[in-house]
Amino acid sequence: MSAYDHEIVSSVTEPAAAAVTVRVPAKVNLQLAVGPPRADGYHSLVTVFHAVSLFDEVTVRTAERTSLTVTGEDAPAVPTGKTNLAWQAVTALASATGRKPRESAVRIEIRKRIPVAAGLAGGSADAAAALVACNELWRAGLSQRELAQVAAGLGSDVPFALVGGTAVGRGRGEELTPALVAGSYHWALAFANTGLSTAQVYATCDRIRAARARADGDAPKAPARLGQVGAAGAVTGRADAADAVRRAAATGRPGVAEPELSRELMTALRSGDPEKVGPLLTNDLQAAAISLLPELRRALAAGREYGALGAIVSGSGPTCAFLAKDAAHAGDLAVALTGAGVCRAVARASGPAPGAALAQPQPRARKL
Ligand code: C5P
Repeated sequence: MSAYDHEIVSSVTEPAAAAVTVRVPAKVNLQLAVGPPRADGYHSLVTVFHAVSLFDEVTVRTAERTSLTVTGEDAPAVPTGKTNLAWQAVTALASATGRKPRESAVRIEIRKRIPVAAGLAGGSADAAAALVACNELWRAGLSQRELAQVAAGLGSDVPFALVGGTAVGRGRGEELTPALVAGSYHWALAFANTGLSTAQVYATCDRIRAARARADGDAPKAPARLGQVGAAGAVTGRADAADAVRRAAATGRPGVAEPELSRELMTALRSGDPEKVGPLLTNDLQAAAISLLPELRRALAAGREYGALGAIVSGSGPTCAFLAKDAAHAGDLAVALTGAGVCRAVARASGPAPGAALAQPQPRARKL
């Protein structure tokens, strides 16, 4: 079964709605294993995406000309022109469904709660929401799988925002398979004062790895998952160093192994026990994010000190995600982190959250 084997679009035979609003979640990465750069400049990944209950809302309505407005969190930082990924999503869906430009003009309204350039895939979420919303507005009838194909052309994280839940991402993140997860997980999310560019974080990761490989004389004796930092702050993976060295050699880049899914993490997620999941959270981009924004080290240390079961940079950062024991503990963590003054703001969220979906039933004229 793939992550796309269900449909979220409604009947194409009903009359079209005047406006469609879609709610879409942020994500954190429970594992982010980054391989060497590919020929196209992207990095091969194995990641465990986990959607959390921090939502943007995107409304689309038919208009004379396409326009885009943004309100809410970080609104001034969001582009309102064609460079906005939600605008590109509308254009891509129009072209995939053969609509003429005049038929596909929409007014796009984005209500942001997901911070921008934060490692939470907020821009990707808005693009996914725009796809689902226009699919509904235009009664285009694309299946979830067809929408995912359009989504993959927009960005690596866009397909996941469509499906939500918890899923393993491969390729550059766009090839998804659902993950079996029991229970729910409660998080405190610490937002930083500035954003980080995803491209810059990946480039920094490459530089750190190259420098370490040079320092090691291009002969990795240590684990090939260089720079991977576990939730407890320790470098992980020593147990199978020999295997990692073999995989690294196979990539032609000493010191950088092809990424592999953490079986331990998948087992822990099936148990539904956050105490087991917390120490297994890992992110290969964490060292790069910290080198670009050293204050993240303080935020992570503060979360651990206040009893977080896992403390990790989310995706390319700079948001830090802290796994709590339960909802009440997430609240305590949020208060403590706010008091410690190690970040701009803290939000509580739980996962897994559903993917992009209609925010409310759309009122329609009914023929009797
Ligand atoms: O796919 P997306 O546009 O979100 O990626 C933003 C940037 O992040 C890319 O231009 C690339 O520099 C980097 N990236 C990468 N490998 C991935 C995903 C993203 O190098 N798997």
